[in-house]
Amino acid sequence: MQGKHGRTSRVCPEPENMKKLVVLSGAGMSAESGLRTFRDMGGLWEEYDVYEVASPAGWAKDRALVLKFYNERRKQLLESSPNRGHLGLAELEKDFEVRIITQNIDDLHERAGSTSVLHLHGELRKSRSMVDPDLIYDIEGWELNEGELCEKGSQLRPHVVWFGEPVTAFEEAAGIVSRADILVIIGTSMNVYPAAGLIDYAPAGIPIYVIDPNEVFIPGYPRLHVIRKKAGEGIADLINELQKLEQ
Ligand code: OAD
Repeated sequence: MQGKHGRTSRVCPEPENMKKLVVLSGAGMSAESGLRTFRDMGGLWEEYDVYEVASPAGWAKDRALVLKFYNERRKQLLESSPNRGHLGLAELEKDFEVRIITQNIDDLHERAGSTSVLHLHGELRKSRSMVDPDLIYDIEGWELNEGELCEKGSQLRPHVVWFGEPVTAFEEAAGIVSRADILVIIGTSMNVYPAAGLIDYAPAGIPIYVIDPNEVFIPGYPRLHVIRKKAGEGIADLINELQKLEQ
């Protein structure tokens, strides 16, 4: 279609005609915002023992250490901003029904403007009661400390999923993936289950893009569209690829 000034103008599809683009994001998504990944060289699990800081046993052993670990993450998050990868995904909502399923506990997708974000592993800026999991609170600022209690009088813990705990959002996530027209996997080593198993819920034959500067081992999927770049640049390439797909 030609625009008023002779330029080609793009017509956004009606919401009911939009393809469903589902994104599965991991720590690499936020790397260009300055947040560390877990398993790369210099990743968080090189410096910390995951069972000390991210498991129920670690919490039982040393609450102060666990709270300090997440306080540091939260402080860093408050000093960070969404990168152009996050912003690019938010922009895609003009042309696609975008559903983001993230393993990240940061809120950078939301701050970039994405409107449908499901957190598989919880949210760093929230706390939760130890006696009633439905009591969830926003954390003002960066600190959650010992002595901060829920309304039923129990210590508040970070609202994150620790190793050994169930991923309660998994079923909803699997449902979202099973209705996808396009799947985009970005910035995850696909090492942690059940999150990594979500790919198996994708309808057969849909295009699956993998954006990651490093090789990601995903057995059983020989026809992945691999964009071997960092999130920012990779999303820009993805947008070009998707435009070709629509022509
Ligand atoms: P990992 O640290 O395992 O993987 C990060 C991925 O991001 C790797 O494949 C990197 O190559 C890639 N990467 C690095 N820089 C990137 C960039 N600039 N752009 C795009 N990709 C980049 O992180 P996750 O797969 O997210 O769970 O880890 C999954 C879960 O393990 C986390 O949610 C966390 C962790 O233990 C819990 O704490 C429960």
